[in-house]
Amino acid sequence: MGPLARGVAVDVTDEEQVRALVADTERRHGRIDVFCANAGVSTGGGVEVDDTGWERSWRVNVLAHVYAARAVLPAMLARGSGYLLHTCSAAGVLTAVGDAAYTTTKHAAVGFAEWLSVTYRDRGIRVSALCPQGVDTPMLADGLAAGHLGARVIASSGAVLSPDAVAAAAVAGMAEERFLILPHPEVADYARRRAEDPDGWQSGLRKLVRRLTTP
Ligand SMILES: NC(=O)c1ccc[n+]([C@@H]2O[C@H](COP(=O)([O-])OP(=O)(O)OC[C@H]3O[C@@H](n4cnc5c(N)ncnc54)[C@H](O)[C@@H]3O)[C@@H](O)[C@H]2O)c1
Repeated sequence: MGPLARGVAVDVTDEEQVRALVADTERRHGRIDVFCANAGVSTGGGVEVDDTGWERSWRVNVLAHVYAARAVLPAMLARGSGYLLHTCSAAGVLTAVGDAAYTTTKHAAVGFAEWLSVTYRDRGIRVSALCPQGVDTPMLADGLAAGHLGARVIASSGAVLSPDAVAAAAVAGMAEERFLILPHPEVADYARRRAEDPDGWQSGLRKLVRRLTTP
């Protein structure tokens, strides 16, 4: 048996590097069954975040998923099977309070994943959008250390899951070929409430922010 895992450093915002990784993996292993696009960045902040922050968010949170799909789809479509797992976020179906670029780009990531699923499902390509809320990783820890409002809201509004728990939810969701994988089940309820009553939902969020920011 060959090695179970191999690490390769790749900048996912560089299309050539993504193409080379996919080509090399196909050459070594014959085919790619599942591609997980997991890298993500959060800047914190609102409209004042400079263009560099917005562009980095766009490139890592969205364009990297486009590069991955471009690279793996030809072989997957040729054999009529393949699975794309895109790590998005609950911010992509709700709002990451205090983080405008994250909210905007994660909504775009969910939109792109849905587009892929609708377009290619009948040709054997399955797509899942993994949308966790709080996960115990450096992203959340760094946000809390920096005092980012978004990180404080996440930490105060439900369970912070371990990466292992999120991975287990992803595997279970993929086994059922579910498009939307929500490791925090309450996010489904939040999304329903937001869809049914956008103004009421926003009013509740504003109340939460006032509670967290009032000394
Ligand atoms: N931590 C959370 O609470 C949370 C919640 C919802 C969704 N997510 C999402 O989960 C995914 C994983 O994030 P995490 O929580 O492990 O955060 P993290 O900051 O610990 O890890 C993000 C990883 O992305 C990598 N990355 C960033 N830019 C890259 C680039 N250009 N090329 C290659 N790799 C790059 C970083 O090196 C890092 O290893 C992200 O998409 C994130 O948005 C996280």
